[in-house]
Amino acid sequence: MTAYQSLSAATGFGKRTGVRTSFRVEGECNYLKCEPALALLRVAQEAMTNAFRHGAAKSIKVNLSLTDTHVRLKVADDGCGMSLKAALATGGVGLKVMRSRMLVHGGTLSARSKQRGTTIVAVVPRAATGDALSYLT
Ligand SMILES: Nc1ncnc2c1ncn2[C@@H]1O[C@H](COP(=O)(O)OP(=O)(O)O)[C@@H](O)[C@H]1O
Ligand SMILES: [Mg+2]
Repeated sequence: MTAYQSLSAATGFGKRTGVRTSFRVEGECNYLKCEPALALLRVAQEAMTNAFRHGAAKSIKVNLSLTDTHVRLKVADDGCGMSLKAALATGGVGLKVMRSRMLVHGGTLSARSKQRGTTIVAVVPRAATGDALSYLT
C-alpha cells in the first residue's frame, strides 16, 4: 500500500460518504511488499465501511505507522461502538476476514470498542513487508 493509494482511498471514501476521514502516515512507506500491503488496504477499507455502515460515524482517523520492525494500521471511528462478542455472532465475515488477512502475513488484528467509537489495529511484521519493492506513485 502506498501512501498515495491509501490517501486517495481515504479521501475518496470521505467524499462518497460525507464522513470526515483523515489519513496520516508516520515513517517510511515505499518499501511494502505487494500482498501484505494490499491486505492492509483491504483491512482499512473494511474498517472504514463498517464505521460508516454500522457505527454511523461522523469521523474516521486512519493512521499508518511504519517502524523498522512493524507496519501498524489504525482505524479509529467515533461511531456507536460495538460489543465484539455480539459483532462476531452476527454472521458477518468482515471482522473475521480482516483478522485472517493479517494472520496469513504473520500479523495480528485487534478490535477495541467502548460506548462510543471503535478502533481497529492491524499489525504486520516488517519482515513480511520488507522487500524493496517500491511502487510509490
Ligand atoms: N465500526 C463499527 N461500529 C459499530 N459496529 C460495528 C463496527 N464494525 C463492526 N460492527 C458490528 O459488527 C458486525 C459484524 O461486522 P462485519 O464482520 O464487518 O460484518 P458485516 O459488515 O458484513 O455485518 C456488524 O454487523 C456490526 O454490528
Ligand atoms: Mg463489514
